[in-house]
Amino acid sequence: MQAGSAWILKPVAEMSTSEFGDWCQLLESRSGMVLTEQRRSFLQVNLTARMRELGLSDYADYYQQVLNGPSAAVEWTNLLDKLTVQETHFFRHQASYDFVAEFLRKRMVDKHHKRPLSLWSVGCATGEEPWSLAITVAQVLREQDKTKGFAVTATDISHSALKKARTARYSARRLETVSKEIVARYFVEEQPGCFQVNKDLMQRVCFARLNVLELANAPISSMDVIFCQNLLIYFRRWQRREILNHLAARLAPGGVLVVGLGEVTGWEHADLQRVENEKVLAFTRRG
Ligand SMILES: C[S@@+](CC[C@H](N)C(=O)[O-])C[C@H]1O[C@@H](n2cnc3c(N)ncnc32)[C@H](O)[C@@H]1O
Repeated sequence: MQAGSAWILKPVAEMSTSEFGDWCQLLESRSGMVLTEQRRSFLQVNLTARMRELGLSDYADYYQQVLNGPSAAVEWTNLLDKLTVQETHFFRHQASYDFVAEFLRKRMVDKHHKRPLSLWSVGCATGEEPWSLAITVAQVLREQDKTKGFAVTATDISHSALKKARTARYSARRLETVSKEIVARYFVEEQPGCFQVNKDLMQRVCFARLNVLELANAPISSMDVIFCQNLLIYFRRWQRREILNHLAARLAPGGVLVVGLGEVTGWEHADLQRVENEKVLAFTRRG
């Protein structure tokens, strides 16, 4: 029997309570992500998969490698990619996109708004969200017969998600929720069943790695739309509020912050006003 197959036959080892506590603390302090007890086996399976590749059998040894090992940074990145939830879809919450479209229609006819429109997808995962935003702007420009410039910034903590997002390639299955008309207008079928966002739209979206715990240093400002959905749910309540405060400071006057429905309750900001629309959770910056 080869050494590799011996590993495969070994069951996933149980992690002690204190080991689980150490991993949770590390993950939360560096990414904000909170792992509940129900996700202990998820953590064990993912750590074990990587430990087998490295020939390690002890969670504590691997912990030390992630903390102080010679490839600590690489290990941390790999681990993060495995542990973050990157589930996403095109036009995931249609009401939020309808709200953004309506906001943009008004913004485009505002004679005081002369700059190109700026949008930001925070926690963009594999790109479906920023591309949906770019399509939303392009559609509004088209219906209004306007040529105003626009740019979408898309950020995430996960290198692998960003790598996928930048290719802008999606299978027909991923595009099932997008109308045929939109697919024909904004995608190119490279091979049967494999589509890529067209070049015009690709020029509009820029991807960058950004940890939302480090927003204080992010060189992003004057956004017309900040879209942050299905990200805050992984953070503690106080941290959600801190992140929202940072995002609020990066909105242009009159700009909107669009959060996932139910992702934050009771948050208020002196410069923002809650939008009266029960289908979306959005805030406008006064002024
Ligand atoms: C469930 S996906 C949501 C994707 C998209 N916003 C949507 O609603 O479909 C959550 C994303 O948040 C990212 N994420 C998790 N922690 C993060 C952090 N500290 N900073 C930035 N992004 C983070 C994950 O990598 C993942 O891609």
